[in-house]
Amino acid sequence: MKQLELAGIPRPVSQLALGMSDRDDYAQAAPILDAFHAAGGTLFDTAFEYGRADAVLGQWLAARRLAGQVSVIGKGCHTPDCRPDSVAPQLEASLEALGLECLDVYFLHRDDEAVPVGEWVDAIDPHLRAGRIRRYGGSNWSTARIDAANAYAARTGKAGFTALSNQFSLAEMIAPPWAGCRSAGDDASIAWLKRTGTPLFAWSSQARGFFTDRAIAASPPDPELVRCWHSTANLDRRARAMELAARRGVTVAGLALAYNLAQDFPVFPLIGPLNLAELASSLDALTVELTAEEMRWLKG
Ligand SMILES: NC(=O)c1ccc[n+]([C@@H]2O[C@H](COP(=O)([O-])OP(=O)(O)OC[C@H]3O[C@@H](n4cnc5c(N)ncnc54)[C@H](OP(=O)(O)O)[C@@H]3O)[C@@H](O)[C@H]2O)c1
Repeated sequence: MKQLELAGIPRPVSQLALGMSDRDDYAQAAPILDAFHAAGGTLFDTAFEYGRADAVLGQWLAARRLAGQVSVIGKGCHTPDCRPDSVAPQLEASLEALGLECLDVYFLHRDDEAVPVGEWVDAIDPHLRAGRIRRYGGSNWSTARIDAANAYAARTGKAGFTALSNQFSLAEMIAPPWAGCRSAGDDASIAWLKRTGTPLFAWSSQARGFFTDRAIAASPPDPELVRCWHSTANLDRRARAMELAARRGVTVAGLALAYNLAQDFPVFPLIGPLNLAELASSLDALTVELTAEEMRWLKG
C-alpha cells in the first residue's frame, strides 16, 4: 500500500485509511484491523461520535503494541455538541480511550455556521501547541468557511486548517446519507483542493456499497442507496466501472476505489468494510492503476 508523507506527522501514512464507524465490538473489529495492517494499512479514522470505536481501536493498538507506530485520525464536536467548548472534553476523552497522547489529524466532525470561524480556531490552536494534535481540519465543512478560518488564523498567528474530510467517490452524492454532511465531489471543491493542496480524507469512498456485486444484483435496489446515489450519471458510471473491472479482473468496488486513489490531488480514501470479504474487495483497488484516459471515461 502506498505510504505518503504528511507535513507534521512523524511517519509516512498509508493512502487508504480504515474507518472505525460501526466497530463497537473488539472481537469483530480486530481481525479486520489486523488484515488491513498486514496489507500495509497504517492510517485509522475514528471519532468520539462512533460509540466504542475509540476504545476498540485503543485496545487493538495496545494489544499489537502499535501505539505511536501507526497514525490515527480523530474527530469531535458532532451535532448536537457542535460547539467550540466541546473540543477540549471530547479530545481528552478520545485520547484517553485510545491510550494515546496525540492524534495525528483531528477533525471538527461538523460545522455550525452560526459560530464565528475564529471561535473554532481559538478552541483548537492550544491543543496543537500543547502537542495533543499534529494537524487539524474540517469534516463536512465548506471550503469558504475553511478559507475564512485560515484568514483569521493567519491574522492572529494561530494554526489553521490543513485537512478536509468530506465525501468523495466515483459516484456523486445526490443526497447526504446523514444530515449535515457535505461532499467534495463538485467542480468548485475539486478546484479548491488542487489550488490549496489540502489533503482530502474522503469518507464513503465506496459510496456505501453502491459498487458492490450485491447492490448491483439487488432487485429492488436498497432504498437508502437509491436515495443517496441512484442518479442516471451514477448508474452510467457504475456500468462503465463494471465493464472496466471485468477487463482488469477485479471487483467493481475495488475498481471504483481505484478512481479515488488515482486523483491528481491528494486523496486519502476512508473505507468501511464490515468483514474480511469486503476488505479484500476494497483492497483490489491497490492492484489497479487507472490511466488519465480511463479516469475521464469512468467519470463520463
Ligand atoms: N466525517 C464524516 O462525517 C464521516 C461520514 C461517514 C463515514 N466516515 C468515516 O469514513 C469511513 C468509511 O465510510 P463508509 O463506512 O461510509 O464507507 P464505504 O466504504 O463507502 O461504505 C461502507 C459500507 O458499504 C458497504 N461496502 C463498502 N465497500 C464494500 C465492499 N468493497 N464490499 C462490500 N460492501 C462494501 C458495506 O455495507 P453493507 O455490508 O451493509 O453493504 C460497508 O459497511 C467510516 O468508517 C468512518 O470512519 C466519516
